[in-house]
Amino acid sequence: DLHVVGSPQPIVAAPGDDVILPCHVEPKFNVVGLTVEWSRPDRRPDPNDHLSRVEYVHLYRHNKEMTDMKIPSYIGRTALFTDGLRDGNISLRITNVTQEDEGRYRCFIPKLKSQTKSLIVHLIVGELD
Ligand SMILES: *[C@@H]1O[C@H](CO)[C@@H](O)[C@H](O)[C@H]1NC(C)=O
Ligand SMILES: *[C@@H]1O[C@H](CO)[C@@H](O)[C@H](O)[C@H]1NC(C)=O
Repeated sequence: DLHVVGSPQPIVAAPGDDVILPCHVEPKFNVVGLTVEWSRPDRRPDPNDHLSRVEYVHLYRHNKEMTDMKIPSYIGRTALFTDGLRDGNISLRITNVTQEDEGRYRCFIPKLKSQTKSLIVHLIVGELD
């Protein structure tokens, strides 16, 4: 059966680093035609936004990134690995991480025919000394 796999350990980075948040489907499964969502489950919707829209770190739909519901601080800093999608690799690259990026991330494939369609990956951003 298909399931989503990530990293049991948190991903640790220093401010300014580029990171890869691991998440993939096992066994290999082409997800190119599917919707892939990366979100911050602990982030509350902006209280000033009366529409209280769901916002995404990265939203992939209809074979491309949809940016209209993207959390502004991630604009221009996230990418999926286009080649990897064919093998079910939906790992997310985030460049130039900051302290505000620290927290829990959720990768989610809503239409995956599986019991486990999502997974949490933890990112820790700290000064190394
Ligand atoms: C997914 O792709 C990334 C970037 O190429 C790579 O680092 C990672 O090992 C891949 N994961 C799997 C399970 O192949
Ligand atoms: C990385 O982020 C910091 C803080 O947001 C910014 O000042 C800096 O210009 C960014 N660096 C690059 C290479 O984008």
